[in-house]
Amino acid sequence: MTLEAQFERTLAKDQRIEPRDWMPDAYRATLIRMIAQHAHSEIIGMQPEGNWITRAPSLRRKAILLAKVQDEAGHGLYLYSAAETLGADRTELTEKLISGRQKYSSIFNYPTLTFADVGVIGWLVDGAAICNQVPLCRSSYGPYARAMIRICKEESFHQRQGYELLMTMMRGTEEQRRMVQDATDRWWWPSLMMFGPPDAESPHTAQSMAWKIKRHTNDELRQKFVDMTVPQAEALGVTLPDPQLRWNPDRGHYDFGEIDWSEFKRVLAGQGPCNAQRLARRRAAQDNGAWVREAAAAHAEKQANRRAA
Ligand code: 3HC
Repeated sequence: MTLEAQFERTLAKDQRIEPRDWMPDAYRATLIRMIAQHAHSEIIGMQPEGNWITRAPSLRRKAILLAKVQDEAGHGLYLYSAAETLGADRTELTEKLISGRQKYSSIFNYPTLTFADVGVIGWLVDGAAICNQVPLCRSSYGPYARAMIRICKEESFHQRQGYELLMTMMRGTEEQRRMVQDATDRWWWPSLMMFGPPDAESPHTAQSMAWKIKRHTNDELRQKFVDMTVPQAEALGVTLPDPQLRWNPDRGHYDFGEIDWSEFKRVLAGQGPCNAQRLARRRAAQDNGAWVREAAAAHAEKQANRRAA
């Protein structure tokens, strides 16, 4: 049996491709691209919420937010390790991010204007991430699927802490309720964009589905997220900013309005509200951390030389 036939048979039997298995170059390249961008998203995603750690309204909220932001860092490191099993180099991937040659999720290019944003990010952004990432636990590439299992457990905490924060604010003052509605209005449509362009305009989805990297299409997961979130908004007492949102009994799903894909394209092209700031922060962190990496590498080399002597 040819290597290609073995690869295809593994996929057909819903088994996992492992790092030492033969795989088509294009399969490897697709996974490096997707996993690297996922990792970049986790690392850049620390900035919007990290912005509020020093200004959290209580020690409890500060502790929860600290734990969440630290989780995101861990997710990024976990995913860079998964990319390395494919032969990718972490430093190169970081350079590609900083130079704009690789993407991170559009959602993190929006500002966090009040503490209600921290709750709405947990509720909507991490909620969308869970919708997108749970199927990835069954992705055909072993290290990615296994990374997702652990990450999804932590995302569930992220989503619950956000929703609980919003429930608390909605039982608070009129001003706090207005803050929650304002944050929901700002984050709803960008959260729907997290799932990617419409299937008809997605250059990667069909092949990623054939390779069982993706288990559902962009539109399928977006619809699942809308169906899941509408009742949560009702329980919270906020209105989702879409006048066309309504249950369609014939489809068994919620119909929703047209997403502004021109905004999506603008943000992907670097013209979002915070793109420049996010990359500048990441570039500064990379530069400021150079001495730590150099010292660690020198120490490791010294240890290796000592063992070899
Ligand atoms: N933001 C930025 N780029 C996006 C995007 C988004 N929301 N949606 C799509 N794109 C890019 C794709 O990367 C691709 O560009 P490329 O060829 O330069 O890589 C192009 O738009 C076409 O999109 P496709 O849908 O054809 O591409 P994919 O098949 O890769 O699907 C995806 C896009 C659904 C984001 C998929 O890559 C994916 O599921 N990735 C894994 C999950 C992930 O990365 N989530 C990002 C958020 S991480 C997060 O939420 C952290 C949590 O803690 C909050």
